[in-house]
Amino acid sequence: MATAELAGKHLVLGMTGGIACYKIAELTRLLVKAGATVQVVMTEAATQFITPVTMQALSGRPVYTSQWDARVPNNMAHIDLSREADAIVIAPASTDFLAKLAHGMADDLLTTLCVARECPLLVVPAMNRQMWANPATQRNVAQLRADGVETLGPDSGPQACGEVGDGRMLEPEAVYEAIASFFAPKVLAGRRVLLTAGPTFEPIDPVRGITNRSSGKMGFALARAAQQAGADVHLVAGPVALDTPWGVFREDVQTAQQMHDAVMRAVPDYDIFIAVAAVADWRVDHASDHKIKKTVDHRLPSFTFVENPDILAAVARLPHPPFCVGFAAESGDLDVHGEEKRARKNVPLLIGNLGPLTFGRDDNEVVLFEASGQKKLPRADKQALASTLIAEIAKRLPDTSLIS
Ligand code: CTP
Repeated sequence: MATAELAGKHLVLGMTGGIACYKIAELTRLLVKAGATVQVVMTEAATQFITPVTMQALSGRPVYTSQWDARVPNNMAHIDLSREADAIVIAPASTDFLAKLAHGMADDLLTTLCVARECPLLVVPAMNRQMWANPATQRNVAQLRADGVETLGPDSGPQACGEVGDGRMLEPEAVYEAIASFFAPKVLAGRRVLLTAGPTFEPIDPVRGITNRSSGKMGFALARAAQQAGADVHLVAGPVALDTPWGVFREDVQTAQQMHDAVMRAVPDYDIFIAVAAVADWRVDHASDHKIKKTVDHRLPSFTFVENPDILAAVARLPHPPFCVGFAAESGDLDVHGEEKRARKNVPLLIGNLGPLTFGRDDNEVVLFEASGQKKLPRADKQALASTLIAEIAKRLPDTSLIS
């Protein structure tokens, strides 16, 4: 999770009655940690599931539960609270609350706040699967979407009532991601982005192999930033220990050949290709299908290597290539190698890692290489850098008419 993207945002977090209220404690913590101010407003029903005292302690602000709260100087909490807000987020949003919203009702503080708002409204439904599937609920949700209300989730899976199906609330981390995504500038709206990330693993035998120190963090950060920027994102990942960014389609591979095949299958549907993976240049010819054992006379094994396909160069060579972006991690002379590599791979943009190799670190410093010259970006957290790089890529796309 990046911490800067919601810094300074003011959110009204409206809680309605439902067992998922306990998860809002964690959501509040994530939002506050990210630098957002969180004004909690609870319905009477929500206070049956978690106390206002808990929510006040986590948000660091007094919690409002009544329209007739004398703490608001002009006694108009419904106007005052929503005027300061960048968005109102209703989580959990109960069946009853969605119905009230869809009909413009204003019979308590939270419904009145929503009706009186000038800011965007995001709802995070949480209910039993039958309640979600009920035609009346579906009608109400369709009406809310038509009215411009953003719906986050629901998820599918086991429910508090013991049943399994659609309707459970997104996990707090996913709600956080969806809120961050909502605020990100949509510079890649309508675009389709294919990425590679992480190392590859080239087997020697069933228990051994050759890999490298790529953590996949930069590629995953870019996938997340592209999704937040409004793109459809397909991430082809080598073996990494990272969670899939919210809303991103992930395909796991092991070897360079598998990565190549996955990319070549998918690429006709994509208009941007970002090759972040640290692909192994060579593989062992004819990996053994049984574990290679030591011999009594201590003879060392010998291997023949063959070159792996260059995925980026193969995509760039296609008759109608997507906009291709390469990465380069060099241990020296980046100025020379970066531009040489960009030209050799025939890509319009190559991003070079500056300074010592940054495998596994959370920050990075890069230089952009393109035909017209070089541009250095300041050192930054990988997620912040990813957002900057996505903005830089968006500026260079050939057909800007699709970019909102
Ligand atoms: N790349 C790729 N397929 C390969 C090798 C590299 O798609 N088989 C991509 C990487 O994802 C990266 C760019 O090419 O975007 C440069 O990778 P790098 O390993 O720096 O370049 P190489 O061509 O392998 O050159 P060298 O290792 O000799 O520096």
